[in-house]
Parts: sequence; C-alpha cells; structure tokens
Amino acid sequence: MGRPFTFPDRTIVVTGGANGIGYALAERFLAEGAARVVIADLDGERAEAAAAELGERARGHALDVTDAEAVATLIKEVEQDSPIDLWCSNAGVGTGGGLGTDAEWDTTWRVHVQAHVHVARLLLPRMIERGGGHLLITASAAGLLTNIDSAPYSVTKHGAVALAEWLAIRHGEEGIDVSCLCPLGVNTDMTAGDGPDAATRLGGDYIEPSDVADSVVEALTEGRFLILPHPQAAVMEQRRASDRDRWLSGMRRARARLKSGN
Ligand SMILES: NC(=O)c1ccc[n+]([C@@H]2O[C@H](COP(=O)([O-])OP(=O)(O)OC[C@H]3O[C@@H](n4cnc5c(N)ncnc54)[C@H](O)[C@@H]3O)[C@@H](O)[C@H]2O)c1
Repeated sequence: MGRPFTFPDRTIVVTGGANGIGYALAERFLAEGAARVVIADLDGERAEAAAAELGERARGHALDVTDAEAVATLIKEVEQDSPIDLWCSNAGVGTGGGLGTDAEWDTTWRVHVQAHVHVARLLLPRMIERGGGHLLITASAAGLLTNIDSAPYSVTKHGAVALAEWLAIRHGEEGIDVSCLCPLGVNTDMTAGDGPDAATRLGGDYIEPSDVADSVVEALTEGRFLILPHPQAAVMEQRRASDRDRWLSGMRRARARLKSGN
C-alpha cells in the first residue's frame, strides 16, 4: 500500500478535466476539501466553463498534454502559488475500430503513454525534492484485459498501466505514490456513440463518471495503486492471468456473440 492521500488544502491538476471522468474527479476533489483544482484540457474554453461551474477554487487552463513545453509551463505557473500535491493524468482519446491508421497509433501513443512520461520527467523530480507527491494515471480496463474493437486504444492503455507500475516501483521509496485507474464502460462523450455491439459492452453495464470519482477518492484515501470502479474487472483480470489460452477462446466467443447480436 502507498501513503494515504488527504484532500483538504491540497492543490490538484486534472488533465482532460473539462468533461466526463476528469470533470467528475475535479468536482469530487473540491467536495472533499481540495484548496485548488486546475482543470487542464485541450478544449480550453470548455475547461474555463467547467471551472466556472465548479466555483472559485477551480481554474480552467488550455493544455495539450502531448506538448512537453506546455506541460512544463503549466507546472511552473501552478507552483508559483502552491506545490502540486496530486496530478491526475486523465486525458484520453477514443479511436475507430480495427488495427487503426498510423495517425491513430501516433495520437493514442502520445496521449495515453508519452503524456505521462512528460509528467514523470517534469513534475516527479520536483515532488521528490520536496518529499513526495501523488500521480494518478487514468488507463482503462482495456489496458489490463483488452479492447477487442481498437488495437491502438488497447495497446496504448496497456502501455499506460505498464508505465504506472514502473513509476510506482522506481519512485515509491522516494515518496511518490502512483495510482492507476482502470474502468470498464463509463457514460461519457467518449462512449456516447457506442452501439449495441461495442466491445466495451462485454464488461457489463456502463457506470457514471461520479461512480468512478467515488472509487478514486476511496482508493487514494487508502493509498491503493489499482483502482477498479467495476468490481468484475478484477475477476476478469484473474481469469486472464490464470489461463491465457482459455481466456482468449472466451474472448473470441464473446466477440462472435456481440457481433451476431445474441
Ligand atoms: N468512458 C469510458 O468508458 C472509459 C473507460 C476506461 C477509461 N477511460 C479513460 O478515461 C479518461 C477520460 O475519458 P472520458 O471517458 O471522460 O472521455 P471524455 O471524452 O469525456 O473526456 C476526455 C477529455 O480529454 C481531453 N483531451 C483529449 N486529448 C487531449 C490532449 N491532447 N490534451 C488535453 N486534453 C485532452 C478532451 O478534450 C476531453 O475533455 C480517458 O483517458 C479514457 O481513455 C474511459
């Protein structure tokens, strides 16, 4: 177990915080007493509108998480007032299905993996120097299991989980606590277009972003690494680990059922 995180008086940055899961995290962190929540999003206008909705302790900021210089600038700006206690690396992108285009591989790699590397390079040394800090990486259950629709999404989310584990191992003794959020389906803009045969449906009913925020607060308060807002994800991961061939056969059958509508 890592060190428990406490919310009162903390400074928190949430990337991809203008919508969906990130917005719900920002809202919940403020309700838990955070002093300051910075909502950083590619959609700067929406980030500012979200901050205005959430009140005076929230601030919106335009940020492309794939732009290391912009991330460095934001960190410096925020830390002029107070050190960042928790960085939620939550921004993500959906993709089309199948093996994907080169452009989709490039974007998903940069948003789902490289963006977390920028934060690790730019913020963790500052946190280590002052004695500690927390990093939350939003991966996905697709990064523990697979998403049989999209190869780029699934592979890059596996990368996000692997990186979160690596950072937790390498920096745990230096005061850095890492958590990795791995939901199955959540009702957000990203899944709004999901049809009845979307692979995410294999995980069961979609939950709400506020349910995800509940799980995140509980896990951070306990100092837990892996955050599974859908309890069935733990069972699915255990099945995969215990017999990989059996699991692959089951996934092939499930996909066939999904595609045939039965
Ligand atoms: N919705 C789900 O079912 C689900 C399941 C598992 C994991 N996730 C992950 O949760 C995270 C949040 O997704 P969501 O469902 O809330 O989707 P969403 O589309 O509602 O929100 C994603 C946000 O990320 C922002 N964003 C995209 N690229 C960015 C960039 N380069 N820089 C900064 N911001 C950027 C978008 O503008 C948007 O506000 C993502 O990492 C996603 O992969 C979602």
